Amino acid sequence: MSIAFQDKVVWVVGASSGIGKGIALEFARNKAKLILSARRIEELETVKRECEFFTTEVEILPLDLSKEETHADVAKKAASYFGPVDVLVHSGGITSRSLAHATKGDVDRRVMDVNFFGVISLTRAVLPSMMERKKGHIVVITSVVGKIGTQLRSAYAASKHALHGWFDSLRVELDPYNIDVTLVCPGFIATELTMNALTEDGTPLKQMNQAQVNGMSTEVFAEKLLPKLAARKQEIAIGGKEIAAIYVKRFFPGLLHKILLRTKVT
Ligand SMILES: NC(=O)c1ccc[n+]([C@@H]2O[C@H](COP(=O)([O-])OP(=O)(O)OC[C@H]3O[C@@H](n4cnc5c(N)ncnc54)[C@H](OP(=O)(O)O)[C@@H]3O)[C@@H](O)[C@H]2O)c1
Repeated sequence: MSIAFQDKVVWVVGASSGIGKGIALEFARNKAKLILSARRIEELETVKRECEFFTTEVEILPLDLSKEETHADVAKKAASYFGPVDVLVHSGGITSRSLAHATKGDVDRRVMDVNFFGVISLTRAVLPSMMERKKGHIVVITSVVGKIGTQLRSAYAASKHALHGWFDSLRVELDPYNIDVTLVCPGFIATELTMNALTEDGTPLKQMNQAQVNGMSTEVFAEKLLPKLAARKQEIAIGGKEIAAIYVKRFFPGLLHKILLRTKVT
């Protein structure tokens, strides 16, 4: 356990399952004061009970990232539990599995609404209090496909690339306010993310992705993440050998293209 997050007010969005749940539990082990958000209330209650094994200060705050008009009120409510939010963690998101040329425009928009517009809207609602206090940390879970693009993930990759552009810009603007911005690129992490992946017409895929099934556990992911957050890193990649794709793309983009052509991507 590190003392870096002890008694810090940490708001985890996307805490009802997967990576967000793993992160919430790790912050609970580090004795943070926690606010847990997502849409599914029963799942949030379950995560709250698990967190309470480590800390008594846990609240749930249901929200929908796609309902921007609610974000100002939700942010006010978040600050009413334990005081101003010190760390905002964005792990809420959906994915897509469809060929770009066959995907309905509405599907692209739904993915952008949750993964990009929802995330920046909620961030804007929290920023004034952080800027006033000249203190804060915003953590955004993006993806390896926030740095590269692969088959079947055009909408998802676009939404994650957009996060990098927006939050890299924000980080520079926030320097005078002493607010940190960390972009986190996970590789394959064992969650059920692809069960609800949007297909060409917006219906859910209802299939697990084998690479994710065999991926890193959310517990190990969160254990690796927190020390890097305590060190206030600007960008972090955590996962298996798939992380190398980020560096291959940066230095040998043509080689990555050839590798992807030969890789079975699902
Ligand atoms: N698993 C991986 O291999 C992997 C790799 C790279 C990046 N990621 C990213 O990690 C993040 C978490 O995904 P995961 O793998 O942990 O999958 P997950 O278990 O499906 O988690 C997604 C979370 O987002 C929440 N969410 C979805 N739509 C929402 C909305 N409209 N409003 C508020 N919350 C919403 C879900 O909660 P509710 O359904 O209760 O709202 C859930 O808590 C995502 O941003 C994903 O893109 C995952």
